[in-house]
Amino acid sequence: MTTSHSVPVVDLNDGTRIPQLGFGVFQIPPAETKAAVLTALEAGYRHIDTAEMYENEAEVGAAVGESGIPREEIWVTSKLSNRFHDPAAARTEGARSAERLGGYMDLFLIHWPLAMLSDPALTWEAMQELTTSGAARSLGVSNFQIHHLEGLARAGAPTPSVNQIELHPYLTQPDLSAYCHEHGIGVEAWSPIAQGKVLGDATLVEIAERHGRSPAQVTLRWHLQRNHIIFPKSATPERIRENIAIFDFSLSDAEMAAISELNRDERTGPDPDTFDMVPS
Ligand SMILES: NC(=O)c1ccc[n+]([C@@H]2O[C@H](COP(=O)([O-])OP(=O)(O)OC[C@H]3O[C@@H](n4cnc5c(N)ncnc54)[C@H](OP(=O)(O)O)[C@@H]3O)[C@@H](O)[C@H]2O)c1
Repeated sequence: MTTSHSVPVVDLNDGTRIPQLGFGVFQIPPAETKAAVLTALEAGYRHIDTAEMYENEAEVGAAVGESGIPREEIWVTSKLSNRFHDPAAARTEGARSAERLGGYMDLFLIHWPLAMLSDPALTWEAMQELTTSGAARSLGVSNFQIHHLEGLARAGAPTPSVNQIELHPYLTQPDLSAYCHEHGIGVEAWSPIAQGKVLGDATLVEIAERHGRSPAQVTLRWHLQRNHIIFPKSATPERIRENIAIFDFSLSDAEMAAISELNRDERTGPDPDTFDMVPS
């Protein structure tokens, strides 16, 4: 699976292969999602990251269907909403997400570890059935801390293929990333440019000027060289194209270290250990 930008693929622990760069659609209104996804596919993206909670799965599915690109050439991830952790709901709602996304999901995640309406291991067990029915090819988790991952392992459950966590230069998550990599769990970095908050950083601006690139491109390149799977969001066509044009330059070890040292343990989103929102 290659595109005009030669996006590398990452081998996951269940034998599936995910494009390392994708396109995130969080906070893209449903009415704008189809056009944004079509722009991304046109630009060469072959991996889309959505969620039931984003309320735009159907529009992602429509864009994928209308793109003319064979479904099997596009990786589509979605996530189980916080209110569907009950095992019966996880099965039904996983199947519904798959339907909205054109028949199956390449990857289905538990969106948040808290707000569990059941034992996480039971939700996880119910999700395994979605791979048997064909609704999902690969299963993972999101926003899981080490203690959540250890809980799944203690229950004897299969290891998730990925853990999708907030991760960017201001929140580098060294312990959690190391744990995931040591246990064969792919690290997906959400809000890879901290929703734009890192882009004015003097270190990133200076490195970007040196390479004749934008701070966003340098930040995304830093992720790639740290083996993160990323899916920056943009509703702006020029930025969608800019964010995938990062495969023809590389950062030096010193530049990589300077960016990693920007860590401030600063979140842009909720802390998984205190976030317990169940949308109504
Ligand atoms: N699992 C989870 O709990 C979770 C949580 C949050 C996000 N995610 C996933 O991660 C994806 C990405 O995270 P995110 O959407 O929170 O944030 P992000 O990708 O870090 O940043 C998106 C913001 O940066 C702007 N931007 C994008 N490219 C830019 C560029 N080249 N130059 C300047 N500004 C640029 C966008 O503006 P415009 O759109 O106006 O261009 C938007 O405001 C989401 O879409 C979603 O798929 C998952």
